Amino acid sequence: MGLPQDPNNPPNPITLFPLPPPASPEPRFSRLQVPMWTAHKARFIERYLYYFVLVTKHGTYIDGFAGPQQPDDPEMWTARRVLESEPRWFRHFYLFDSSPAQVACLQALQQAQRPPDRTKKEPRRTIHIQQGDFNSLVGGLLHSAPFSQREAVFCLIDQRTFECHWATLEALARYRTAGYKIELLYFVPVAWLGRALANQQELQVIQQWCGDGTTGSACDRCASGIVWNYGN
Ligand SMILES: C[S@@+](CC[C@H](N)C(=O)[O-])C[C@H]1O[C@@H](n2cnc3c(N)ncnc32)[C@H](O)[C@@H]1O
Repeated sequence: MGLPQDPNNPPNPITLFPLPPPASPEPRFSRLQVPMWTAHKARFIERYLYYFVLVTKHGTYIDGFAGPQQPDDPEMWTARRVLESEPRWFRHFYLFDSSPAQVACLQALQQAQRPPDRTKKEPRRTIHIQQGDFNSLVGGLLHSAPFSQREAVFCLIDQRTFECHWATLEALARYRTAGYKIELLYFVPVAWLGRALANQQELQVIQQWCGDGTTGSACDRCASGIVWNYGN
């Protein structure tokens, strides 16, 4: 609900503090040397999952697009940060990537893991790595029902732009109908979405990404709007 407004005195556009008039011409800045969003994203997810396991004391982590965005900077790699974050209470990891080179990075990460520290009562872990299209593999994962109904499950969908199909999200979201659902963290590329939509040549890619708007929910209507705009 918005704040009550005086129709005779409409508010100015809201800013947190007074801004100076815009400079003209606008100053130019060089590109950031470090991909800050990638670093913040990895740190944010690690921190979020730190609190997650403090509550649950256990958990399963699924990462559908798990290979490193910056292979030369492992600090920015979410899967690595989650695997190595303390306390090590996540018990099961399901890591997917379509690229063989990225899967090799995941396997090296798996090899580098230390055994559980029994003095800290750390549980034994399983790390499953699969190469392939997560959209095709997610059905098999859910069908094999590897986690009990009581298991706390977190799934990261860290796509670049349009890689994760809407049907994949639906399958994950609908997997549990009672109790705790699979917790989903879904990356939407707001910063470059307009540009990516404008450059995407294939309508089918957009349709798979946001659904084709055929089933009638609010989100489907939004999806059909995107597809309609794009198609026209
Ligand atoms: C944005 S990167 C993931 C970044 C990673 N989460 C990190 O923290 O550095 C996207 C990854 O998804 C992989 N990928 C692209 N399409 C895929 C698909 N259909 N299924 C699974 N992985 C895919 C790419 O190879 C890439 O490694």
